[in-house]
Amino acid sequence: MGPRVRLISVAAAAIVLVCGVVLALAARDVGWLVCGLVLDLLVVVVVAARSAHNQLNMVAERVTATRAETQVVRYEPGEPLDLLRRDLQRDVSALLVLNRITPPTGAMPAPGGWAATPDTLLLLVDRILAAEEEPLVVECGSGTSTVWIALALRARGAGRVISLENDAEYAAATRAALSRLGLSDWADVRHAPLQRVRVRDEDALWYSAEAIDDLSGITLLFVDGPPGHFGPRMRFPAVPLLAGRLSTGALVVLDDIDRPDEQAVEAEWTAHTWEGTSFRRAGGSDRAALFETIR
Ligand SMILES: C[S@@+](CC[C@H](N)C(=O)[O-])C[C@H]1O[C@@H](n2cnc3c(N)ncnc32)[C@H](O)[C@@H]1O
Repeated sequence: MGPRVRLISVAAAAIVLVCGVVLALAARDVGWLVCGLVLDLLVVVVVAARSAHNQLNMVAERVTATRAETQVVRYEPGEPLDLLRRDLQRDVSALLVLNRITPPTGAMPAPGGWAATPDTLLLLVDRILAAEEEPLVVECGSGTSTVWIALALRARGAGRVISLENDAEYAAATRAALSRLGLSDWADVRHAPLQRVRVRDEDALWYSAEAIDDLSGITLLFVDGPPGHFGPRMRFPAVPLLAGRLSTGALVVLDDIDRPDEQAVEAEWTAHTWEGTSFRRAGGSDRAALFETIR
């Protein structure tokens, strides 16, 4: 009820009451006073009913407005909401498949965020299970992916993953996760602090040389580190420094290819030949690019 309506109602009720009192005094009949009071009561009932009705209408309008707002949210293919929906569908379907090699007991580290997405984990697992030769996987940046790679190797019954990790705490956390799941025999997490290296004509920061000294015949290289907060194009040295250690037909997966920095890395990898090997895009996942190698 608005202030104006409230004022008119109170005034009407007062006038009716005053009239009732005046008439009762003039006619010396209390019946007029009773009539005034009854009329007042009627005014109060009508005004209250009207006010309740108005409030219901306002609520109804709000509900309709919410529905209308919901209805006008549009999304076109390729728009953020559509991409989010597609991402979720890919992630859920990837997790359903990954679930087949998940151990019945033991806590699995979470995918996504800093870790690879389920779709990328499935890409890695798929390639390991489908590989013709015994897999030797090298991973730059340890975590959830190390566990899934080790699980795939165990499911396959052969192979090993060497995970390079610049941060001692993350290396220990990954080793602990592997141990909890009984996967330590399939993985070697190497603490490899970052060092200055010379790549082509430029200085770069990458994992210590000792950590890769003994590596040869790598069948799958997963590049998900060192972390970008150390500088631009941190993942670039992986191919120049490891190309000579790849097996014939090796595959390379570069994570976070939706970022400009990783796209710049891809452009450089594919523009040159590294130790006689060239790299060509051959698909990927929702966030990672897959490269095949040609010698
Ligand atoms: C992208 S992460 C590697 C993730 C790993 N390949 C996976 O899929 O779980 C790259 C590096 O970031 C660091 N890192 C991992 N998780 C982090 C976190 N939550 N916050 C900060 N740094 C993190 C670690 O040093 C790791 O090697």
